[in-house]
Amino acid sequence: MTSRLQPYFAVCPGGLEAALADELDALGAREVREEGGGVAFNGTRELGYAVNLHSRIASRVLWQVGRRGYTTEQHLYDATQEVRWQDLMSAQQTLRVDVTASRSPLKSLEFAMLRIKDGIVDRLRTLSGARPSIDRQDPDVRVFAYLDQRTVTLYIDLSGEPLFKRGWRADKGEAPLKENLAAGLLALSGWTPEVPLLDPFCGSGTIVIEAATIATRRAPGLNRPFAFERLANFDRAAWRRLKDKALAAVDDTATAQIVGSDISTRVIEQARANARLAGLDAFLGDGRLCLEGCDARTVEPPAEHGMIISNPPYGEQSAPRSSTVPKMMGEVGDRLKAAFPGWHAWFLSSDRQLPRQMRLSETRKPVLYNGALECRFFRFELVGGRYRPRGAHSIQGAD
Ligand SMILES: C[S@@+](CC[C@H](N)C(=O)[O-])C[C@H]1O[C@@H](n2cnc3c(N)ncnc32)[C@H](O)[C@@H]1O
Repeated sequence: MTSRLQPYFAVCPGGLEAALADELDALGAREVREEGGGVAFNGTRELGYAVNLHSRIASRVLWQVGRRGYTTEQHLYDATQEVRWQDLMSAQQTLRVDVTASRSPLKSLEFAMLRIKDGIVDRLRTLSGARPSIDRQDPDVRVFAYLDQRTVTLYIDLSGEPLFKRGWRADKGEAPLKENLAAGLLALSGWTPEVPLLDPFCGSGTIVIEAATIATRRAPGLNRPFAFERLANFDRAAWRRLKDKALAAVDDTATAQIVGSDISTRVIEQARANARLAGLDAFLGDGRLCLEGCDARTVEPPAEHGMIISNPPYGEQSAPRSSTVPKMMGEVGDRLKAAFPGWHAWFLSSDRQLPRQMRLSETRKPVLYNGALECRFFRFELVGGRYRPRGAHSIQGAD
């Protein structure tokens, strides 16, 4: 395994860059730099594997193999000639090239992509006499080129399927959260496995399953393949060591109290199936992970104190029924005030009116992106008592 430091970029949902940077620091990354939509860092080749295996928040890990200034398409071609493609893939393997750009002076990204693809193919043909073929569906090697105004950066995708695909989702359910966004909610809230956790709108169980896998120290990438396993320089022995260590770290005896409920018994069945596929049978069996059908308006607190972390229905996701959601959320707010004093609740929603609907005042509301949808992650301290809307005047002694 080479110990030379390599440059990487980990992509993540907007708003989770700082949480991802913390994760990368903990994994031993060097020169960790937050950028919009991801985090750049340096590390060994083994660290590139480890981030794929352990990161809960990254969507994808890219390995930077080339970078140079450009003004024309020919410069993009030239940039490909500086990379040792023969160390990364054989001419018998398949290739895919994708280009994204921000303020690029070039007219056609399609043409830019073709020049980069030609450069890689020509280089491999010169060295080996054969040319790799293109496969857009399931390539062995995927190259991402990123063009800004003056610089082209060439990356090799180390992940393949995005990292939020942990390999346990049996069925997608209705508007499931991506697993890495769920992990981001848990990280931003400061939840730790000792704290009782409730998701009263758990749907397919994404938040509670992610929490249970954190409690059991189950690495999120244990049950899926990665693109780096198909690269010519893949270090099988190093990968085996990393995976063995991650497997040995799984602790099914961990204590936890994690509850997911939903009004739909159909999605609860799905959530249970997902939890089993995630390897959480033991947790399900003895109720450390409890999944049950229940209306959030009548939900019971599973403990005296704890955290609610949830992604309730909101307009964009449930259009035909959207007019009933604000009223329902008002009733959920009443329920939380009455039955959950001392709890902290965090709700992810694109509806800025959520605090008003629930008659609760938020103490924080960081911005997060659920795909393209701008959301707020509202934090409420449930203290019981009465609600006073923001900006409302109070006369001392009369409130
Ligand atoms: C946005 S989805 C949650 C998705 C979930 N985070 C996941 O990853 O699958 C909202 C969920 O709220 C549920 N729901 C709607 N009204 C409810 C109510 N009154 N009580 C409990 N659950 C409700 C829906 O069945 C749906 O599963």
